[in-house]
Amino acid sequence: MIEHKPHHQRLGIEQLRLTSFRCYDTLTLSLDTDLPPVVLTGHNGAGKTNILEAVSYLVPGRGLRSARLSDVAKRGPEDRLLPEGVGVLPVRWAVSARIRAMMGMVNVGTGRCDTSERRQIRIDGQPAKNQSELGQYLSAVWLTPAMDRLFCGDPAARRRFLDRLVQAFDPNHAAMTTDYNYALKQ
Ligand SMILES: Nc1ncnc2c1ncn2[C@@H]1O[C@H](COP(=O)(O)OP(=O)(O)OP(=O)(O)O)[C@@H](O)[C@H]1O
Ligand SMILES: [Mg+2]
Repeated sequence: MIEHKPHHQRLGIEQLRLTSFRCYDTLTLSLDTDLPPVVLTGHNGAGKTNILEAVSYLVPGRGLRSARLSDVAKRGPEDRLLPEGVGVLPVRWAVSARIRAMMGMVNVGTGRCDTSERRQIRIDGQPAKNQSELGQYLSAVWLTPAMDRLFCGDPAARRRFLDRLVQAFDPNHAAMTTDYNYALKQ
């Protein structure tokens, strides 16, 4: 029998870990990058989109839901009873992944570890200078129902989407877009 061996190894996420993220206390997903695409199934509210949102934080940007970072941390039933702004809510969360990238294996971690609304990023344990560094390892593009105005609404949103598509092929595009927008504002 001939054993089927892929000609080249697929790139992608080999392991995904969530900590205090949305409905997950902790979750570890091990994925075989040589297998065909991953399909998430489960009943409504099971946490499928939450996993996709976690993956979306592994690339530059504000994530799949453009959520406030403090809303992403797992809340318990007791937190929901507290009036807004009262009590100590758990605000820390983390997503980490082992990624098989073009230049080899890399461990990427991101999350919120203090009261700042800035997302912290570590690449192989070292703090990243900025979010665009993430684009060197992984690219992700999404089209969700919340983006239904994309094709007939604000052209700026459409340009951002197209820029994200280009970033999937050219990691340097993120820095160029930032420079361009800065130059435009001068
Ligand atoms: N910060 C949070 N803390 C705890 N639970 C949360 C938080 N944010 C969202 N959830 C819970 O996550 C669940 C929704 O998860 P998600 O949107 O991933 O579901 P889904 O599997 O995609 O559902 P559907 O099939 O309806 O799209 C809800 O039960 C919601 O209460
Ligand atoms: Mg969903």
